[in-house]
This record gives sequence, structure tokens and C-alpha cells, in this order.
Amino acid sequence: MVYGGPSAEHEISCVSARRIVRTALESGFVVKAIGLTHDKRWVDATRVLSDIDEVDALASPDDLLHHDKGVELGHLDEGLPPDAVVFPALHGPFGEDGVIQGHLEAINVPYVGAGVLSSAVCMDKGISKSVLHDNRLPVAAWRLVSRSAWSPEILEEALGALGLPVFVKPANLGSSIGVAKVSDAAALGDAVLTAFEFDDHVILEEFIRGRELELALMGNEDVRVTKAGEIIASREFYDYDDKYVLGAAETIAPTDLTDAQLAHARRVASDAYRALRVEGLARVDLFLAEDDEIVVNEVNTMPGFTPISMFPMLWEAEGLPFRAVVEELVTLARARHARRRLLRTHRAP
Ligand SMILES: Nc1ncnc2c1ncn2[C@@H]1O[C@H](COP(=O)(O)OP(=O)(O)O)[C@@H](O)[C@H]1O
Ligand SMILES: [Mg+2]
Repeated sequence: MVYGGPSAEHEISCVSARRIVRTALESGFVVKAIGLTHDKRWVDATRVLSDIDEVDALASPDDLLHHDKGVELGHLDEGLPPDAVVFPALHGPFGEDGVIQGHLEAINVPYVGAGVLSSAVCMDKGISKSVLHDNRLPVAAWRLVSRSAWSPEILEEALGALGLPVFVKPANLGSSIGVAKVSDAAALGDAVLTAFEFDDHVILEEFIRGRELELALMGNEDVRVTKAGEIIASREFYDYDDKYVLGAAETIAPTDLTDAQLAHARRVASDAYRALRVEGLARVDLFLAEDDEIVVNEVNTMPGFTPISMFPMLWEAEGLPFRAVVEELVTLARARHARRRLLRTHRAP
């Protein structure tokens, strides 16, 4: 288990980690918890785990160091036993975007979740939209602007094509950070400049009026998909405060849909999963727009695992308890690693 990390979702990761660790211990796994501090130092929290009561309070890796409960490691590799499977319960850049996955590939350790390419593509809202669009999957109309090539004329063209309100998002982030809903053309320039503080690439996106659905998927070659959950934002959109600070957004798992709506949502979600070459797991976020149109918003390759997170709740509703989810994810990680080891890397002699 690797948790914490340098992203804005560090605390969410700690809560997810606590639940995964407790469950994995109950399943009889030997568990090591390796935390990553905000400034990217590795901390072994296994000493804390030897006291089962402390698992419930598994703290932020920064706090473990601070309270002298964690052991600082020179590197992640030092903390891993030989037959380890790593569960990178990390969100956002570094943990969910292929960086940690690339490191685990390089040291030849199986890990839960999508590979390097898929993780990186899903993290980038601009590239993932292009891939989905190329695969004829429905996405909101969008424009990608890069810091090195944008101008008032480009914004004007985008406004003409997308209309108002328009969403402005840094391409490579999560948790709604830097995301703005702009209803006034005069405010667009400032929203774009703010988004450029977070990333070199920014997307402008057509506003979709509709319900927000989330589906949970697991699998490598064969994908299983749950029923749809629904998010009902308490604010103008599902922003950072709604997600984490106020806890005010309502989560329904599963939500009421007609059979046709659900079948459509499941088909689009699994097509998006495959198009983006996801393996292991993902939470696919969709809009159910007017006229029952489905639009893919984004694919999250490492969704939250907190007690109020949609991914575990949706599986629970399918009759799959959290323990079975964790066991399946480890099995999928080993299977992917074993399969990829059989791939030829040389041409015939
Ligand atoms: N095109 C859109 N139309 C309507 N609402 C949107 C649109 N894009 C984003 N939102 C709202 O903003 C929230 C955050 O945007 P999202 O793209 O999911 O970013 P993040 O990766 O930070 O979760 C969504 O959950 C939704 O409520
Ligand atoms: Mg989102």
C-alpha cells in the first residue's frame, strides 16, 4: 500500500489507505503501508500497523514523521518485500498520472490499476477527450489552449463555438481545482489565466445541462461494470468544497434510471474504459443530458476508497463487499504483470 502523496487529495488518500489496509489485513494479506509525504519523502508506517488499533488512525505520512511513528526510507524500493503487489492509493498528479506506475514498471513490481500510458492519458483532460472523440465516444465540445499559443482571438473563436456558460479547466489536475464555470465573456480571460497557474494546457468546455452519473468498473481484458451512482451537487457545480470540505453533495448509489438509460450508460462507460486502455479499475463519470444523451466527462483510474466514496459503494450495491473488491484488484494486478511478462521483446533469432 502506497498512500499520501504530493497532490491536493493527500488527505483523501490517507482515509482510503486506512480502509484498504484494514480490509487487506482481515483478508490475511501481509501488509506494508508506505506513505509519501507532501514533499515526496517515503515513510514506512508498518510499525504503526503492528498495533491494530492504530490502523484506524493511520495518519498522514507527514504526521507519522512529525510524531516519530514512521520510519523514513531512502526510497520506496527499500520498503518492498520480494513478492509485493503495490496498491498505489494515490490521487492526482504523481500518483494517478503514470509517474509512480512508471517507477513500478522500472523496478518490475506488479501494481493495482492502469498502466503508465492509460494513467497518463486519463489524467489529461485534453488528450483523453481526443482519444474518446476519435473512438466515436460522446464528449462535450471542447477547445484545448496551450500557454505558448493562445490569444484573445483563440478565446473568441472558442466562445463562438462553445457558447456560455463555458467550463475552464487545467488539463492535468483533479478535485475541481482551478475549474471555473464562466457565464460572462468578460471573465473568460481571467479564468484562463488562473487555470494556467496550474498547468501549461487548459481546456474550455461546452456546458452540459444534465444529471451527473458515476459507474465503477473492474477488469483487465474482461470488464465488469456496476449500476450507475449519481452526484447531486449542492452548489453551482461539484466543486472542491462540495467534494471535500462541506461534504454537502448528495451521493446516491445506485440511482434511479430507466433500463434503457442504464444500459446506455454502462455501454458508454465500458467503451470509454477500453478506448483509454484502462486495466484494473476506474470510475467513469458521465453526464445524462437532455434527450437521454450520455456524455463522458472523465475517467478516474484511482478513485477514492473512503467509506463514502462512490466506487466501493457501487460494488457493495452489486453484492461485492469491500474485501472482495480489494482481493480482486490484487488478483488483477498479478494477472496483468504475469501476462505482460510473456510478451515478446525480441524478434525471432
Ligand atoms: N462541461 C461541463 N458541463 C457541466 N458541468 C461540468 C462540466 N465540466 C465539469 N462540470 C462540473 O464540474 C465538476 C468538476 O469537473 P471535472 O471535469 O470532473 O474535474 P475534476 O477532474 O477536478 O473532477 C464536475 O463534477 C461537474 O459538476
Ligand atoms: Mg470530476
